[in-house]
Amino acid sequence: MSTTEQALTVIILAAGKGTRMKSPLPKVLHPVAGRPMLEKVVYAAKGAGARDIRLVVGHGATLVRHVSENWGVRCFEQKEQLGTANAVASAEITDMDGDVVIMNGDHPLIEAADIAAFVKEFREEKLDLAVVTSVLKKPHEFGRIVRQHGVMKAIVEAKDASRETLKINEVNTGIYIVKASLLAQDLPKIGNQNAKGEFYLTDLVSIAIEGRKKVNAIVASPKVAVGVNTQAELARATKLLFKRKIQRLMEDGVMVIDPRATYVEDGVRVGPGSVLYPGCFLRGHTRIGSFCVVESHAFISDCEIGDSVQIRAGSYLEQSQVHAKCTVGPYARLRPETVLQEEAHIGNFVELKKVKFGKKSKAGHLSYLGDAEIGENVNVGCGTITCNYAADKKKYKTRIGNDVFVGSDSQFVAPVTVGDGAVIGSGSTITKDVPAKALAVARGRQFIKENYVIKKTTE
Ligand code: UD1
Ligand code: CA
Repeated sequence: MSTTEQALTVIILAAGKGTRMKSPLPKVLHPVAGRPMLEKVVYAAKGAGARDIRLVVGHGATLVRHVSENWGVRCFEQKEQLGTANAVASAEITDMDGDVVIMNGDHPLIEAADIAAFVKEFREEKLDLAVVTSVLKKPHEFGRIVRQHGVMKAIVEAKDASRETLKINEVNTGIYIVKASLLAQDLPKIGNQNAKGEFYLTDLVSIAIEGRKKVNAIVASPKVAVGVNTQAELARATKLLFKRKIQRLMEDGVMVIDPRATYVEDGVRVGPGSVLYPGCFLRGHTRIGSFCVVESHAFISDCEIGDSVQIRAGSYLEQSQVHAKCTVGPYARLRPETVLQEEAHIGNFVELKKVKFGKKSKAGHLSYLGDAEIGENVNVGCGTITCNYAADKKKYKTRIGNDVFVGSDSQFVAPVTVGDGAVIGSGSTITKDVPAKALAVARGRQFIKENYVIKKTTE
């Protein structure tokens, strides 16, 4: 049987209270670089090939269950938080085959490749139990790995450790790989005679060694040990994730002017040759093509952006599509369901919502376009407004054909349609359909009263 075909179960411990977060949100749901930290851990497990993922929930269980509903995991409730061994016992361990990875829900920097590498080593070494360890400069509260003649003997929790033991720099990252059979056999042997009166999963190590099982440590990079217990650690984890993403983008040919001040979430893709200015923030499932420029303080969430697009400073884009060679901003807003066809131009202080905006069309300044279809080569003058929201509280549509010229400061009272090639005189309030190639002017006429001012002042 190849290693990938062996059964792999992952148990993620997420029942703890997270007291030090000082927040009403369950700890594992706090977002790290835009996603709940628990989701990061779950997706790392999935990416490593685990089909059977079990979450142990407790504090905030209802909310954690709800949030994790679409992740393809099963939740098991730990009624009372009696310690990490008790948490694992809640996950129906007698109903598992093959190998089991146990990990904490509050270690969001873990990646699929890390887990896959640990499992590979565990299998190649034919171990019964492996503990993933890291060597840290400041091991603080972590459990210490006690070795004799270089061989791991036990894990001692910081609270139970002697001064001598506290000097050990090798720590337990909280990730274990264990044969399902060993877990079922040895977990019930763990007691709670320790400083916290809890059932420590770490005791599995010494119990398995006594039972002459093959136990070893797998030494990993310190990032695996990065856990979140406080808001400061949460911010640090977020920072590290953004840093990692930016490094990868740069490796793939994206120009980043200031890597420390550029924020790109994990699910975002950016094409090579694109430039990211300081302070831009790219979220969710955003896709950005090649040779794009994203200037400072552009906030882009779940958008699809083609090649050679310029998003200028201070623009806010959500759930929109921007095709190749468009320019957007500075200070433009694209609200959901907006589509800009190729080479369109949206300038400063222009807001679009649910608009199909045609190829090479322009809205350069100070406009609101909502619920509209606008053809190709249209010039939308400064200050144009589609009046899409009527007194009956319904939304109505404005349709503007190709090659239309809309003079500045015009309003379209929807529903209304303007035919191809029509011209709208500046300052018009268009309430009726305009035929193709027609001129429509709908504004008060200008009148002149000669010498009006002189007469008034001589009276
Ligand atoms: C644990 C390890 C420690 C290791 C550290 C790595 C034990 C006894 N100690 O310590 O050796 O260095 O992780 O971060 O295992 N949880 C439950 N139910 C419980 C208790 C905890 O689900 O009853 C969950 C928590 O939500 C958390 C994880 O288990 O996700 C770890 O628990 P925590 O109390 O944070 O353990 P540490 O003291 O950090
Ligand atoms: Ca912890």
